[in-house]
Amino acid sequence: MDSRVEIRAALEEARTATEGLLEPVPDAELGAHVSSLQSPLVWDLAHVARFEELWLLRNLHGHEPIAGHEEVYQAFRDERGAQADLPKLRPEATRAYAADVRERVLRELDHIDFDAPNPLLRKGFVFGLVLQHELQHQETMLQTLALRTDGTYPVRNADPPDRAADGPDQIKIDGGSFILGATDEPWAYDNELVPHEVETRPFLIDRAPVTNRAFAEFVDDNGYGTPRCWSAAGWEWRQTEDASAPLHWERGNRGWERVRFGHREPPPPDEPVQHVSFFEAEAFARWAGKRLPTEAEWERAATWDERRGKSRYPWGREFMGYEANLGHTRFSPAPVGSYAGGESPTGCVQLTGDVWEWTSSYFQPYPGFLSYPYPEYSEVFFGEEYRVLRGGSWATDPLVARGSFRNWEHPSRRQIFAGFRCAKDA
Ligand SMILES: [Fe+2]
Repeated sequence: MDSRVEIRAALEEARTATEGLLEPVPDAELGAHVSSLQSPLVWDLAHVARFEELWLLRNLHGHEPIAGHEEVYQAFRDERGAQADLPKLRPEATRAYAADVRERVLRELDHIDFDAPNPLLRKGFVFGLVLQHELQHQETMLQTLALRTDGTYPVRNADPPDRAADGPDQIKIDGGSFILGATDEPWAYDNELVPHEVETRPFLIDRAPVTNRAFAEFVDDNGYGTPRCWSAAGWEWRQTEDASAPLHWERGNRGWERVRFGHREPPPPDEPVQHVSFFEAEAFARWAGKRLPTEAEWERAATWDERRGKSRYPWGREFMGYEANLGHTRFSPAPVGSYAGGESPTGCVQLTGDVWEWTSSYFQPYPGFLSYPYPEYSEVFFGEEYRVLRGGSWATDPLVARGSFRNWEHPSRRQIFAGFRCAKDA
């Protein structure tokens, strides 16, 4: 996508969706700190607009910071960290700033020469950067909205998708080499590059993500009280956190209940479990006599076709017409075995969408990694502090959820829309 018309439409569509998510929340609550892990919703909006100003006005065109929005600049003087101490952002001032930035961006867009010798403009890269950033923050906002306890949030529920044909519980993937990383993605992030050949040994992988029903069996089998199911770090986390079930799960009169977006309901048994930490996923896998897949195994199962090579998505290359639960058209994962036509060439289902899937891999650079266009996106997070998640969730936009996309999180985090599937050596 590098034409002005398409870029303009995509920017406007993203903003409409951002505003749509915030619309049901009264202004007085947009500045609330719902959780220590999440920024106030109004901060996300200010941050999205400021990122857009930084890349599409200041870095791309050499503009000076926009005058007249001191309140927003003030809020960013020392970015994250001590957000509780930041001056309160007023929603109307923040919306005015976001609209001001956007108006200037669209004015500049009319005059951009996409063939200019500027790497930021190559195939519209910098617009992809700003668009994906806003779409990723929509998912962050949904995490905050799911945690809110003031009233109920109107959740969306698109029609239930078609069922895929039944299949075995696990699928065998032959050993061999394949290409890991983004091969033909103009808007890929630096951490998805450089694509390189990787060998995986033969393995088995769950055809679908682990369900609430299966996870409840682990809970009811005293999985949270059985140290041998847990790694040392996982057991320490379990004790410190006093975790006894996925986040949002509570014992009610009728068994397990979950509370999210202010709604209380039994966890639907056939839905992929979500809101589990890496440690809980790892413990379940051990309990089940399995393990988590590596990110290379995940990407091979999702995107590699022995005959045709690499796909953008499990079901093929095309961008639209995706067969997956993406883009928050429903505010929950879909029952496992959904999405006929969404199977990967290997026969796995729901690799993309529904829940982010924890892998056993640390977030490390691929060989030949070059930070671009700024080190704070990925480079500063490489190491053994974060684990990689793959596949996107119901809250992830299809533009972001390509098969090579790498997400990373601290293994203790569970406010994110994360679940998992298990693997096993063959
Ligand atoms: Fe951000």
